[in-house]
Amino acid sequence: MSSKSYTLRWGILATGGIAKTFTTDLLVNPTTRDVHDVTHAVVAAASSTSAERARSFLSDCGAPSSAAAYGSYAELVADPNIDIIYVATPHSHHFQNAMLCLKAGKNVLCEKPLTVNAAQTKKLVATAKQKGVFLMEAVWTRFFPATKQVQQLVTEGAIGPVRRIVADFSMHSDVEKEWKDSHRLLNMDLAGGALLDLGVYPINWVFQILYHLQSSPSTSSHSTQPSSQNPLPPTVTSSMTKYAPTGCDENTTVLMTFPGYNGGSQGIATTSLRTSSETGPSVRIYGDKGEIQIDGLPCHPDNYRLITVNPGEGSVSRQPKEVRFPVPGGGKGMFYEADECARCLRDGRKESESIGWMESIAIMETMDEVRRQNGLVYPERIESAEYPLEGF
Ligand SMILES: NC(=O)c1ccc[n+]([C@@H]2O[C@H](COP(=O)([O-])OP(=O)(O)OC[C@H]3O[C@@H](n4cnc5c(N)ncnc54)[C@H](OP(=O)(O)O)[C@@H]3O)[C@@H](O)[C@H]2O)c1
Repeated sequence: MSSKSYTLRWGILATGGIAKTFTTDLLVNPTTRDVHDVTHAVVAAASSTSAERARSFLSDCGAPSSAAAYGSYAELVADPNIDIIYVATPHSHHFQNAMLCLKAGKNVLCEKPLTVNAAQTKKLVATAKQKGVFLMEAVWTRFFPATKQVQQLVTEGAIGPVRRIVADFSMHSDVEKEWKDSHRLLNMDLAGGALLDLGVYPINWVFQILYHLQSSPSTSSHSTQPSSQNPLPPTVTSSMTKYAPTGCDENTTVLMTFPGYNGGSQGIATTSLRTSSETGPSVRIYGDKGEIQIDGLPCHPDNYRLITVNPGEGSVSRQPKEVRFPVPGGGKGMFYEADECARCLRDGRKESESIGWMESIAIMETMDEVRRQNGLVYPERIESAEYPLEGF
């Protein structure tokens, strides 16, 4: 490791499934992914259950024995050795837990979706601004090499102007057999349902292409170049079916039209608890000169396929370019977003260019609108943008 590398000191808030995957990834040596400018240290974890649970979490993840184990989130945010806190509670709790961190002056990486609604996200952003700290929604998808290359191909015009994106994240679950109604994915008290948990990924695929590609109104309709103007949010049409026992959504389809690019390019994001994203391409990006497809779950892309066409001639390339990006170092790929946090903090940036504050707000507003159109309302306690509330 170069002596010039910057070390980011992490505190982990909650000890559930994704906290373990993320923390284990933090401990992968960055040189295995050819990263030499930043590195990570796990200095503490906290469990709302007990300090013993935090201790055994740290040990299961392989963290050094010097890492502190706390039995409350309040103790974690008071630890002066921590630079940034990773919030990994259910999304019903993100707003209260992230506010606790920000108010204590800590930088925050918070799991997706950033909050339950846009009002909460706006308050987090205002607090991060006021405290002068970093805040990022942990959409790990954005930082995979495959995503970066697909964005670059699209920006360079490899498929011409993008007209449509179709993206799906569906879980292929036997809902009644696999989960109790109290499970995080079904439980309204934990902001359950397909949209916020899974649908946020296909929505992110649409945003990470079309929101970023938007041209100013005066730009040619054939432009593929990003605009320096502030991107416009999409108009939204949607439909949803519900899981009757709890009232959360189980199938949701969202049609987004981005007015600022090509006079209205479209994105269709679908999500279901029951069907599978893995029976064909989960992401398809269509342009005038071809298409980019991604196979497998869209949250952690490790491949793409570029298929070109000659407009007007009807000929489709018979040998699509296929590229694979195996995740190195035995990790899951969550370290890519951690590297982004380290670089932002090293460079004094308070938000990431890959998923900035305005974009997280626009995504939450999109999901608010989908919920409004389909009457999906969570309990007042978790929709509230008041802070603090007891019991979080
Ligand atoms: N990036 C991804 O690919 C990915 C994958 C899965 C989930 N996620 C996101 O990560 C978040 C957590 O998901 P998860 O699967 O890790 O959940 P999980 O396994 O249920 O863990 C959540 C943890 O939050 C803490 N917690 C605090 N209050 C809680 C409450 N009232 N009910 C349940 N847990 C509570 C618990 O830890 P303590 O007892 O230690 O406090 C619990 O272990 C969600 O927002 C989800 O959308 C992201």
